[in-house]
Amino acid sequence: MLAVEAAMRFYATQLAPTRVEDWGLVGLLHDFDWEKHPTLEGHPAKGAPILRDRGLDEDLVRAILSHNTAGTGVERERPLDFALLACDEITGLITAVALVRPSKDIADVKVKSVKKKWKEKTFAAGVHREEAEQATADFSRVCFDGQLEFWQHVENVLDAMAAIADTLGLDGTTAEE
Ligand SMILES: [Fe+2]
Ligand SMILES: [Fe+2]
Repeated sequence: MLAVEAAMRFYATQLAPTRVEDWGLVGLLHDFDWEKHPTLEGHPAKGAPILRDRGLDEDLVRAILSHNTAGTGVERERPLDFALLACDEITGLITAVALVRPSKDIADVKVKSVKKKWKEKTFAAGVHREEAEQATADFSRVCFDGQLEFWQHVENVLDAMAAIADTLGLDGTTAEE
């Protein structure tokens, strides 16, 4: 969630500079109820009322609901919605690539290393490659006239995550001796 927040803040500076906090918040909160409702039917549909109770703007609740259209029926419509899914799909893989490096340091992760792992279908198999590519293509079409290429997106998310490496525990401090 912190990784998605960082990626969302990065894109907000380009796409919605007056709403960086909102975009970041959507990234930070989008999976807040996953441990409580760990199914695609429950998450985040059942979490949404909690967010509303806590005073989160409906606008942001809607974006969170749209990252699981299959479960919530809420379609992605706005740049914020497309950005969330595109960022969400990539952060897990980057985290996994950093954690299998002996250094456990995201500073050592290059796009090339992510590419290599991307092709190994058994690596981080929970990251659905086609869905990630589709989410990125949709985000690119809606927000970048189709000019945001998949690996450029990976690089952007990687850079955003590397900037908060310590917060993510990916700064090498968890490496074994
Ligand atoms: Fe989720
Ligand atoms: Fe997520």
